Amino acid sequence: MERPIEIAIVGCGNRGRVYGQYALDEPGRMRIKAVVEPNVYRRELTGDKFGVPADMRFGSLDAFISSGTEVDAVINATMDREHYATARAIIGAGYDMLIEKPVCLAKDELMELYGLAVEKGVRVMVCHVLRYAPFYVEIKKRILSGELGDIHSMVTEENVSFHHYATAFVRGKWGNSDVCGSQILMSKCCHDLDIITWLKSGTAPSYVASFGGLFNYIDSRMPAGAGERCTAGCGISENCEYDAGKMYVGKRLWNYYATEYLDSYADRDSQERLGWSLGEKNPYGRCVWKCDNNVMDHQTVMIEFEDGCTVSHNLLGGTAKPDRTIHIAGTKGEIYGSMESGSFCVRKPDLEKPEQYNEETVDIKAGIDGHGGGDLRLAADFVSYIKGEGTSVSTTELGDSIYGHLIGFGAHEAMTGRKVVAIRRLKHGKL
Ligand SMILES: NC(=O)c1ccc[n+]([C@@H]2O[C@H](COP(=O)([O-])OP(=O)(O)OC[C@H]3O[C@@H](n4cnc5c(N)ncnc54)[C@H](O)[C@@H]3O)[C@@H](O)[C@H]2O)c1
Repeated sequence: MERPIEIAIVGCGNRGRVYGQYALDEPGRMRIKAVVEPNVYRRELTGDKFGVPADMRFGSLDAFISSGTEVDAVINATMDREHYATARAIIGAGYDMLIEKPVCLAKDELMELYGLAVEKGVRVMVCHVLRYAPFYVEIKKRILSGELGDIHSMVTEENVSFHHYATAFVRGKWGNSDVCGSQILMSKCCHDLDIITWLKSGTAPSYVASFGGLFNYIDSRMPAGAGERCTAGCGISENCEYDAGKMYVGKRLWNYYATEYLDSYADRDSQERLGWSLGEKNPYGRCVWKCDNNVMDHQTVMIEFEDGCTVSHNLLGGTAKPDRTIHIAGTKGEIYGSMESGSFCVRKPDLEKPEQYNEETVDIKAGIDGHGGGDLRLAADFVSYIKGEGTSVSTTELGDSIYGHLIGFGAHEAMTGRKVVAIRRLKHGKL
């Protein structure tokens, strides 16, 4: 009879619980055996949610590793800055691992982790959830079918939206790179850079350039009459689209981030408590023009691949509508799509048509929740991977994630140094 794989979740925040949900949906395939989390509230919440016994709830990774607990794999869902040290310890102890993106903060760390995984014979998969979104899976299949010919150009866009950007990248955990460790290109567009290398897989990137800046969410753009906190002494909150009261209490947008501050309160789920906290010390109550954010709110990245294909990716932070768009041009045809709309069209030259091209519209019948439905598909794929049932077209082993990360690290170097950065080709797993 099939036995569920046994998992330890390291880092019991939002993402750890998202992937853990698969164990509740498919108890015959995955079971959460242990949780590792220094924050007592989160450790107990997650332990209770997944029915983990008290002696399998660890307050530190050292305690878990030295306990010698046997699990089939570890899900590493710590924050960006903790990835390198925790991944090193987990791989070093010989556990297979699913790790959140970005894998780490620098090229040397990445290559060290990759080398260690190879040396230890440990399997590492990266949470590139967008590879599992049906929208991108269908596009990948079209490219693999060869119907577009050879791909020579791609233009991709990530439109974050004003509410998501303000929550995560101004007020929230990814707003200040000195605290979080990641630049926004790695914390947000890591997926897009990965998708680009995936769609070009087999061809290495060779050069990257980039420009960007922080344009809007800065002190000098603070409107007259605004205050430091939306719900306490702001004169413009009634007409401000960034008003924290409207955003988090009224509309309940990004509620799981806005309530993080309330972890130690018994009534943390109450909207009254949330409203109170926004006027006090909750970071999500701050005026978006009075935060400690320093990451870019717009950035463009240009990449040249070794076969001459050129790609540009644009991050647009404070857009009205969230969306990812993609335009791929090959020698035989092109694809143009919008992930938010859940459709793309495939166009091919056709002189017989009045427009001189034919067009097929492909509708993806999938929800846009959880990264286009990708989160739980990724968890399911990880289980198959660990069980040795094979990999899918979307599986991202650590080695497949290297070029996407190198583009991101290189783009930051290019932008800050005002130069073009060469990306070295991997040879036998080394740069
Ligand atoms: N794949 C995606 O689409 C996606 C989406 C959002 C976030 N992320 C990434 O997922 C990761 C987690 O994000 P989150 O929002 O869940 O963060 P979070 O802050 O909610 O959770 C991280 C948890 O790790 C715990 N922790 C810190 N050090 C630890 C250690 N040494 N051992 C064990 N636990 C430790 C923290 O106490 C915290 O509870 C981040 O790297 C983030 O960038 C990925």
